[in-house]
Amino acid sequence: MNVIITGGTKGIGKAIGDLLLSKGHNISFCARSKDDVEALVEEWNKAYPDQMVIGEVCDMGVQEEVESFAVSVIHHMKQIDVLVNNAGVFLPGEILKEEAGALEQMINVNLYSAYHLTRKIAPLMTEQGSGHIFNMCSVASIKAYPNGGSYSISKFALLGFSKVLREELKPHGVKVTSILPGATWSNSWAGVDLPRERLMEANDIALSVVNAINMSPSAVVEEIIVRPQLGDL
Ligand SMILES: NC(=O)c1ccc[n+]([C@@H]2O[C@H](COP(=O)([O-])OP(=O)(O)OC[C@H]3O[C@@H](n4cnc5c(N)ncnc54)[C@H](OP(=O)(O)O)[C@@H]3O)[C@@H](O)[C@H]2O)c1
Repeated sequence: MNVIITGGTKGIGKAIGDLLLSKGHNISFCARSKDDVEALVEEWNKAYPDQMVIGEVCDMGVQEEVESFAVSVIHHMKQIDVLVNNAGVFLPGEILKEEAGALEQMINVNLYSAYHLTRKIAPLMTEQGSGHIFNMCSVASIKAYPNGGSYSISKFALLGFSKVLREELKPHGVKVTSILPGATWSNSWAGVDLPRERLMEANDIALSVVNAINMSPSAVVEEIIVRPQLGDL
């Protein structure tokens, strides 16, 4: 299968890429850091020389860059089977106290990114009558957390987008899955003084993606809520 992952160089996106490559799939991914993109293309090409690995520098918060990324991926892969809208940014804060522009920035990266990329990729899937789109929401998509601020607003919106997309793509054979992870080890948690087992591993989220992909064409996992065993932080 040919898979697109946005924000693929670190954390959950990288874990999904690692797992899908290990199962023989081809990956296109993006991130903003050129060094990270180049390093990961080298790492994955070395580990999986017979599979396609395409890495592109792209700021998913900028519509023109999202659309160029889509054009390039379609050019290289021709058919797209899975799209993982994963790129996201978490700026903690409270609505009344966070910096001006926080909402706009997180709506751009956490919502519009998925909206614009999906509008370019989903038509290929409806045409082929198959495909699977994952939207990386959050438990903050269904519950307001302390210090969630505009992040939570953007993730509520992403879940809304995902639900609408599910209804629209239902008759076309294209699956849509919303993933709502709780706290998962990644850069966002760097420096937090907690025992390793208090948070989930990024690979736990990757496993849930693979499990959903492996269902028969007649079944779709609409929502996946995954939390640390000891609950939210
Ligand atoms: N970790 C958690 O606890 C948790 C919980 C619930 C939901 N989530 C969601 O899961 C997703 C991944 O989170 P993570 O914790 O794995 O994050 P992470 O470790 O910080 O990785 C984020 C990835 O996205 C890329 N990225 C960030 N902004 C981007 C942009 N504007 N354009 C393109 N790429 C961008 C980063 O690379 P560059 O910085 O080089 O661009 C990196 O590859 C996010 O949507 C997040 O909201 C995470």
